[in-house]
Amino acid sequence: MNTEVLKINPDAPDAALIERAASVIRGGGLAAFPTETVYGLGADAFNPSAVEKIFRAKGRPADNPLISHISEISQVRLLAREIPPEAECLMERFWGGPLTIILKKRPEVPAVVSAGLDTVSVRMPSHSVAHELIRRSGTPIAAPSANLSGSPSPTTAAHCMADMLGRVDVIIDGGDSLIGLESTVVDMTGPVPTVLRPGAITAEDIASVTGRCVYGGESSGAPKCPGMKYTHYSPRADVVAVSDMKNAAALLAGAKGKTAVIDLCGGDYPADVVYDAGADLASYAARLFYLLRRADEDGVSLILARLPGPEGIGAAIRNRLLKAAGGRTDKPC
Ligand code: TXA
Ligand code: MG
Repeated sequence: MNTEVLKINPDAPDAALIERAASVIRGGGLAAFPTETVYGLGADAFNPSAVEKIFRAKGRPADNPLISHISEISQVRLLAREIPPEAECLMERFWGGPLTIILKKRPEVPAVVSAGLDTVSVRMPSHSVAHELIRRSGTPIAAPSANLSGSPSPTTAAHCMADMLGRVDVIIDGGDSLIGLESTVVDMTGPVPTVLRPGAITAEDIASVTGRCVYGGESSGAPKCPGMKYTHYSPRADVVAVSDMKNAAALLAGAKGKTAVIDLCGGDYPADVVYDAGADLASYAARLFYLLRRADEDGVSLILARLPGPEGIGAAIRNRLLKAAGGRTDKPC
């Protein structure tokens, strides 16, 4: 398949170019596009054969449901049959932004979108290009992250192209994703709001609106977020999540092949490459997936990456990093 790449400035999105991508969505094709979290791989959520193409393009297991993206809060009613008042408050407070809300689904939502579940996950991005693309498409857009299944989500157009050129009709190059980790997924179908995937909006942020919110999913036995059992965010290199960077030298000693360290403000380590994750956790989040992919491009075979504490966006960084590392840390279990 020939993939058209459209370069669109997020500060002043070109209406004609967005319209070109929107016509691909309306015509049942696939369009990769930037969001504030990561790049997404979109299709018309109400066109089952278009949505099936997403699963083929990514190599994604069919039992892993997709998020439907909307451009106005009112569109949530096209997808959800029941909207608890607390969920409405979350939408008012956090949309557009990096929060995905799971609700009871309307029967009109194709089973392929929800992987046969009775629920639907909905998100309204804040990114100008994503917003305009959804608006002009005139339909909710089902979109997972635009990576091949199993690899880190793309946060730059180049990484999106590395995985999706030849697999989709169009890729919008709209610059880097500012947040860099996928949205928080919160389940609002049970008695207590439950975060199934941590992200930039924390359980504490949600509890400040709803009164209560717990972390669930993986931490509570059987995963309710089906993707969590599949997604490993893994580069080809081995990854170790390091909670005490004083252990780095010992972990690097005797390592075979090219070694790399990812740390805040770089740092002085006996590795072949030291990648600077920025000065704070927000920049670490923004750079983590980029650096994991970059290490592969640089031929690195072992990556040591700082494992931050669980405060704020640290919980999301820990979640992705521990998956990338397959649970390998500097501490015995
Ligand atoms: O930031 C994001 O959320 C990005 C951008 C493109 O919006 N999208 C994204 O989609 O990360 P994806 O498909 O890579 O991850 C969605 C996660 C998966 O773990 C999936 O299992 C879970 O959300 N999910 C989706 N619908 C669900 C549902 N109805 N019930 C439980 N989990 C659901
Ligand atoms: Mg994904």
